[in-house]
Amino acid sequence: MDRDRLLRELSEFLRIPSVSTLPAHDDDCRAAAEWVAAELRRLGCSDVAFLGSEKHPVVWGVGPHVPGAPTLLLYGHYDVQPPDPLAEWTTPPFAPAVRDGRLYARGAADDKGQVFCLLKAIDANGRPPVNFRFLIEGEEEFGSKVLFDLLKREPQRTKADVALVADMSYVAPGWPAVYSTLRGLCYAEITVRTAKSDLHSGEYGGAAPNAHEELARLLGRLKGEDGRINIAGFYGAVKRPSKSELAAWKKLPFKEKEFLAKRVQAKGLTGIKKYSVLERLWALPTLEIHGILGGFTGQGAKTVIPAEATAKVSLRLVPNQTLKKVQQQVAAAVKRFAPKHITATVKFLHGADPAQIKLDHPSFKLLDQAFREVTGRGTVPARAGGSIPVVPALGAAGAPVILTGIGLPDDRLHAPDEKLDLTQLWDGIEVFRRFYELLGRG
Ligand code: BES
Ligand code: MN
Ligand code: MN
Repeated sequence: MDRDRLLRELSEFLRIPSVSTLPAHDDDCRAAAEWVAAELRRLGCSDVAFLGSEKHPVVWGVGPHVPGAPTLLLYGHYDVQPPDPLAEWTTPPFAPAVRDGRLYARGAADDKGQVFCLLKAIDANGRPPVNFRFLIEGEEEFGSKVLFDLLKREPQRTKADVALVADMSYVAPGWPAVYSTLRGLCYAEITVRTAKSDLHSGEYGGAAPNAHEELARLLGRLKGEDGRINIAGFYGAVKRPSKSELAAWKKLPFKEKEFLAKRVQAKGLTGIKKYSVLERLWALPTLEIHGILGGFTGQGAKTVIPAEATAKVSLRLVPNQTLKKVQQQVAAAVKRFAPKHITATVKFLHGADPAQIKLDHPSFKLLDQAFREVTGRGTVPARAGGSIPVVPALGAAGAPVILTGIGLPDDRLHAPDEKLDLTQLWDGIEVFRRFYELLGRG
């Protein structure tokens, strides 16, 4: 492997600021799609195409035909999350930089670095080991609508013997994993309106309702201090992991104290105390507030009673909750908790059902072997706290969906100084190369 060349090529990909959620970056998303398409052509794909007309295209490709060999569908995403707060990056997010054997850039681990591994693990000159299908999308970070619609129209695109999703991480350094669940997501804006317009807080303060105060109280009612979410019926479908699964998690290299000190870096953990931290992260639903808008947030002081306030929130869902049901439950809870003198509305932005995957297909053994040969340790079964909206649809045509990845838990996805360890990158290429080879031998 010519590592210098590979690093240059990945850096080129990372330099494209393909932030899917910001319209100002639409052209950059197109450029990232073009970068992927050029790679697919280099690999000898016959019909490289941009699918889905709306926003950011899904890059589709069909690898050279290998008679008798299985079909492997590779999934990843070329879009990234916004890089802000910019001031907290040691080097700029779209100027990839190597420090201490780590590559720093937005998208280094999520997911450009991993897409890069999937692609560079294929030898462009030799005979490919399997029949490749590529589905590399550009809207993962904002709900995957284009791909959802595409797969609804053309479910045959996912016809494959195996689907491989590399958008996850090891559970700890040296511990590669495969994942049996992903949490779903329900993203919403809750808006509180209290009056026709803002009011002078001296003239009206003490008697007029305040939108921020009402919103704060409403949010406080939705989730209690004990971490429980007070939405009627919300926990009804939630199933506790089996005793044996909980016992297996105890053997993973995960220490709650270390998680707090090294990864969260806060003074304490929150959530429902009677459940272990892994259970809270992997098997329980959440409600998080992402941001609150409204009122006066400029420099200096302004004495005003805001008439409107909006909270951006999301709920993570676990098997067997469904997005549809949770949306109804959230709308009903907001209605119930809002006092009569305010108007509270909920707007749902996007979402995804949770995914559940059986790890018993023979191809999981092959990936386990590939990791074992390359890194010295096979895969452990785990669950994931994050979401990849399209995963349930990827498996709809019957292919087992392998959720794995080559990142590390401290890669700081979506945060400043996102990085990918170069050893993970080089190992990752070798692991996938070996996996393709083993799969091809059937
Ligand atoms: N790669 C992540 C999902 C992920 C993160 C899985 C950590 C397992 C562990 C993915 O790119 C992501 O961030 N998804 C979003 C989806 C959402 C915007 C619809 C997420 O989970 O917030
Ligand atoms: Mn991702
Ligand atoms: Mn992400």
